[in-house]
Amino acid sequence: MPVPLHIPKYHFSCINCGRSYPSSEVVYTCKHCGGLLDVVYDFREMDAEEFLNSLTERHLSIWRYFELLPIENPSHIVSLSEGYTPLYRSVRIARDLGMRQLNFKYEGANPTGSFKDRGMSVGVSKALSLGSRACVCASTGNTSASMAAYATRAGLLPLVILPKRKVAIGKVAQAIAYGAKVIYIDGSFDDALLAVKEATEKLPVYLLNSINPLRLEGQKTLAFELFEQLLHSVPDVVVVPVGNAGNISAIWKGFVTLKKLGISEKLPRMVGVQAEGASPIVSALMNDNGFRPVESPNTVATAIRIGNPVNWPKAVAAIRDSGGCAVSVKDDEIIRAQKDLARGEGLFVEPASAASLAGLRKCLEEGLIDNDESSVLVLTGSGLKDPDVVGEYYEPPMEMTECPEGVLRYIGNLMRVN
Ligand code: F0G
Repeated sequence: MPVPLHIPKYHFSCINCGRSYPSSEVVYTCKHCGGLLDVVYDFREMDAEEFLNSLTERHLSIWRYFELLPIENPSHIVSLSEGYTPLYRSVRIARDLGMRQLNFKYEGANPTGSFKDRGMSVGVSKALSLGSRACVCASTGNTSASMAAYATRAGLLPLVILPKRKVAIGKVAQAIAYGAKVIYIDGSFDDALLAVKEATEKLPVYLLNSINPLRLEGQKTLAFELFEQLLHSVPDVVVVPVGNAGNISAIWKGFVTLKKLGISEKLPRMVGVQAEGASPIVSALMNDNGFRPVESPNTVATAIRIGNPVNWPKAVAAIRDSGGCAVSVKDDEIIRAQKDLARGEGLFVEPASAASLAGLRKCLEEGLIDNDESSVLVLTGSGLKDPDVVGEYYEPPMEMTECPEGVLRYIGNLMRVN
């Protein structure tokens, strides 16, 4: 933990009616109008220059940004060294697409293999500071894996509600291994989230879905890291896959915070990518007639198979305010993108993460992004979580009965062809 320059002060504010709640209150949505809450800081004690200078001496995790995060007591921090994930410059895809500068922010390098660890470290730290005994979440998989790890580390009981047969096997395995009580329901992610909301109204359990604004605070650190990793600059475009719509709004908030503090002048355009079978935010932005949930969402990218994203008002605002856009992509475009990232760049990501590359391609084709613009794709999670996709869409291993003769013949033939 860094030696803090000062202790952060904040309150919750409803993005709908403006009512505010103190940081000590356990509140997820506005008690008056049900609107989403934002975390608002008092930065009056913040000296941005002193803060920037102090970063050179700090540990490489999200907690290097302690003064910009909503935990008042450093001893409550529950951390597995999440964040400060690698930023890789594209070696092949940029050339194939004729792009000047394309980078990949590889969130699969987080402790449980997805970006969720950023938000979960903050959320579970808060649960611990409030004296909670149990944490609960609904999930398409990654949230549950991450929550289970952090809650267990804090000594709290992780309770996980999952849509049965709709979560990648690696993610369920993680939640079980970390000691979560896993409950399968016969319904969708959206149904599981309703159950979570009811449980937190009636039982003494702490909610850790991204409707809890503290989660998004942790996730905004991705923007701070990009600023540092790009040598104190901000990219033109950031492309993010969208499911429950928290992450895109969190990353946008990170960039807005840097601007508010006078640390950077520029803001990027935020581009959201959804799978065609689960694209209510793309429709809301295109049709101007408001938001309508998708009844039976479906896509190979199970992590973003969500029909009624709770954070849609924040995501729509982030995309509009940044001058960005949202696009939807087909499942076969997602799988092609996954193969290109794995085989062209050495980055094996899960289908939801590959959606960002499929979305970039579409934006270039439609003139929504220019080849000259510096772009960052957020690769949200590791491909290891969903091995079934490889079984279904990739060539199986070659079975060879004659060993070693057949093996040598096979390799010899391959070498002649290549
Ligand atoms: N990519 C991956 C790998 C995800 O797991 C998720 C969301 C997203 C993108 C979309 O992020 O919801 O903030 O818009 N997964 C959640 C879960 C819903 O339960 O793990 P979002």
